[in-house]
Amino acid sequence: MPRFLIFFLFVAVFVTAWTAPHWKPSPADQGVSLEKRAKAIAQSCAACHGTDGRFHSEIPSLAGKPEPVLSALLIAYRNDSIPNATVMPRIAKGYTEEELRAVAAHFATLSATEE
Ligand code: HEC
Repeated sequence: MPRFLIFFLFVAVFVTAWTAPHWKPSPADQGVSLEKRAKAIAQSCAACHGTDGRFHSEIPSLAGKPEPVLSALLIAYRNDSIPNATVMPRIAKGYTEEELRAVAAHFATLSATEE
């Protein structure tokens, strides 16, 4: 690659980085309550665990299970201490322990049966 091109790329990257709007922390860091974050996180669980964590399939339901049980399972997935798990270790690693406890608390408050 000709030198001027390398120089040009360097300047372009520098100028873009400098003029781009400064990175803003995610809403998670902007004072959104942990409870609201937990609800948002819980939406992503619905695809497999059913709406409100209530599903009748091979994937276990979450709704109404005690918070300490759900927290312990999620943290164990995160630490790779549940053998034969498939997707949950990868999912649990995407969240902090605090978020996992909050999402566990969210599912614990939901009724296990549809009302
Ligand atoms: C891609 C599908 C998928 C998504 C999305 C998903 N799960 Fe799971 N979940 C599973 C499967 C499959 C299992 C069984 C363990 C395994 O194979 O990893 C499981 C197991 C669990 C268990 C253990 C339940 C029990 O009683 O043994 C908990 C707790 C759990 N998931 C919570 C969550 C939470 C919270 C989320 C959202 C942050 C979530 N899962 C998102 C598929 C999913």
